[in-house]
Amino acid sequence: MILEVLGSGAGGGVPQWNCACPNCARVRAGDPRVRARTQDSVAAFVGGDAILLNASPDVLRQIEREPRLQPRRARHSPIRGVVLTNGDLDHVLGLFSLRESQPFTLWATGRVWEGLARNAFMKTLDRFEGHVTFASLRLGEPTRLSGDLVATAIPLRGKPPVHLEGTLAPSAEDNVALLLQEGATTALYASSCLDVRELEPHLGGVGTLLVDGTFFVEDELIRLGLGTAEARSMAHQPIAGDTGSLAVLARWPIPRRIYTHINNTNPILVEGSKEASSVLEAGLEIAHDGMEIHG
Ligand code: MLT
Ligand code: MN
Ligand code: ZN
Repeated sequence: MILEVLGSGAGGGVPQWNCACPNCARVRAGDPRVRARTQDSVAAFVGGDAILLNASPDVLRQIEREPRLQPRRARHSPIRGVVLTNGDLDHVLGLFSLRESQPFTLWATGRVWEGLARNAFMKTLDRFEGHVTFASLRLGEPTRLSGDLVATAIPLRGKPPVHLEGTLAPSAEDNVALLLQEGATTALYASSCLDVRELEPHLGGVGTLLVDGTFFVEDELIRLGLGTAEARSMAHQPIAGDTGSLAVLARWPIPRRIYTHINNTNPILVEGSKEASSVLEAGLEIAHDGMEIHG
């Protein structure tokens, strides 16, 4: 299996347009310790085809940076489809940048689809018969994406997207991890996770885990004076501390455990910081844009 982290940042990316937090300021100042990052997405390459796991608002930049995602003739795309893990805007806004009448398949749970379908913009993905084909991602049921690549959606506690809060009742289909299997290789992608122990029943044979690294601590935004929301209220388990994800992930015998969907406030983004070192010393990795994973 060949995966590429197209975007390793959380919503907003690094730097975020309206943020001058220490990390965003470091990137703008050219500090080599902090890499710029686009918003969360992963590509899976199967033969000459590609499947996108989430459609980042930065998808056009991600395509232009990766020749394997680029057209090979007039009006062509190797991108066969997009799989959504939830309906958050940092995972779906890119769909509207892929509207130029190129047929592809969109896999999402029924609930995520329902949230999208309320939006008049969705009609731009339905310009003709066979344009974007919706394919239902059923919880626990393996779905063939392309070639031998199969995905199974695993429900994780999460929340509806911010813009749908209070209008759609919370559902087990709001947020999923994707278990990806191709031949003998297995990867697990869980970019929003409240408690990594929910993944434990699904780890058999997993060679690569891409997991929620949004925040280092619960009150990261509050400490920086950037907001009032705690990490878990946004459905993200922080990395550090007795109840953080690192203490659990450090014990899992998975060859590659990689934090991704990393918010611009997260101190692990500073190479050489004590927070980044704590992650690396526990045997985990910190995703960056363009990181390629051969399973
Ligand atoms: C998240 O990952 O929590 C969301 O992308 C946040 C948001 O929608 O702003
Ligand atoms: Mn997000
Ligand atoms: Zn920032």
